[in-house]
Amino acid sequence: MPINLKQIVADRLGENYDLHDRHVNRTLVKVLRTIGFDKVYTRAQGAYLYDKDGNDYLDFLSGYAVFSIGRNHPAIQQAIKDVLDLDLPNMVQLDCALLSGLLAEAIVKRTGPARDAVFLCNSGTEANEGALKFARCATGRDKILALEGSYHGLSYGSLSVTNNANFQKGFGPLLPGAGFVKYNDLADLENQLKNKDVAALIVEHVQGKAVRYPDSHYFPQAQELCRKHGTLFISDEVQTGLGRTGKMFAYQHWNLDPDIVTIAKALSGGYVPCAAFVSRRDIYQKVFSTLDRCVVHSSTFGRNNLAMACGLATLSVIDDENLVENCARRGDQLIARLRDLQQKYDIIKEVRGKGLIIAIEFQQPSGIKAMLAWKALHKVDKGLFPQIVTSQLLAKHRILAQVAGHNSDVVKILPPLIIGDREIERFVTALDDVLANIASISGPMLEFGANLVKAAMSTGYNKNK
Ligand SMILES: Cc1ncc(COP(=O)(O)O)c(C=O)c1O
Repeated sequence: MPINLKQIVADRLGENYDLHDRHVNRTLVKVLRTIGFDKVYTRAQGAYLYDKDGNDYLDFLSGYAVFSIGRNHPAIQQAIKDVLDLDLPNMVQLDCALLSGLLAEAIVKRTGPARDAVFLCNSGTEANEGALKFARCATGRDKILALEGSYHGLSYGSLSVTNNANFQKGFGPLLPGAGFVKYNDLADLENQLKNKDVAALIVEHVQGKAVRYPDSHYFPQAQELCRKHGTLFISDEVQTGLGRTGKMFAYQHWNLDPDIVTIAKALSGGYVPCAAFVSRRDIYQKVFSTLDRCVVHSSTFGRNNLAMACGLATLSVIDDENLVENCARRGDQLIARLRDLQQKYDIIKEVRGKGLIIAIEFQQPSGIKAMLAWKALHKVDKGLFPQIVTSQLLAKHRILAQVAGHNSDVVKILPPLIIGDREIERFVTALDDVLANIASISGPMLEFGANLVKAAMSTGYNKNK
């Protein structure tokens, strides 16, 4: 008898956390239960998740920047249905399928003619792995550099250029030749490039960890230094690509011309993993240099039709709904509203971002009571305050947001690019309320919250994406 998925979901919904506790990542289950994030979502649409009672949750996390076009978009659903209806031959491998060719063409249309060779794969880390391999192969050099504070993924190559001890701990030794340059420091970069043994510099133009970007001259000059020393310049647009920063790609804010661009997350439309990197053709051909090397870099599921259809449909939704423009406009609006809130609460140190990747950074407040509470909390753990804010946003206002890393006082938001006045108003009003309440509760209460969250964080939940 064929599996009846609808019946199974109806019968077993609610067992979610128990199942994961038994068979998947029970440490994550413990954390989610401790911080009150153990919701059972039953439906999703656009910028909202819903529970079984029909309560809506505003999703300002977007599955770590996957749901740029919102959840369960009908255009992606239709594309998936079309592929199924067509009974297409999938992953023949020794053929050239139409949909993968079309997706490559659609990506190149957006990355410009300088980069016209696409490799299709399944995840952000896989796209970065490929980019690093191509850079080594094309240059014949071993070393790879990344910026301090970087996050490029968790498989070995990407992890080696991820500048975060929490993620690296326990997994060494990592890739030989991987190293880091000081953030915003061109002299350090030049110093490390001048031996002409560095294959590539890989950068996030807006770092996901702290939502920061360097001084305006940094990237153009870094790219120039790379050119001068024969080092390839790789833009990791896994999180920032496809409109997230208010431009199709973040590198366009600085008029850059990267040698390789990596893309993932939003390209999936939130349905089927879909990722790619786009490279200059001469780099690509140095990898696939002879007939016997025609599959020297490949990935079994990389060009699968459902993923290709999702990618194609997502790119057309981004265009049809003017989501890049909406992101720029709504991002400015949201940042301005949050900066207004900063006038009211001196606990907000800074609001920064580009488009709809936004950080709200907190600092020790000036009022005696609040200052004591802040100090008590930070004695327990340096990263607890933003966790309390996000827990309160969810518990009291049904808004999903994330902390931005270990030991930092930053809440990060990644709303879908479709948001409008209603979502902005709801978030700003909720944050206002949470901060007003936090300011009025006493030190011991904050400490109580801290202990609760500390239990969760000691299990390593505070993921830095
Ligand atoms: C900038 C950046 N690069 C790479 C990755 C890794 O992508 P994935 O989780 O799909 O492997 C991420 C994920 O958060 C990211 O933000």
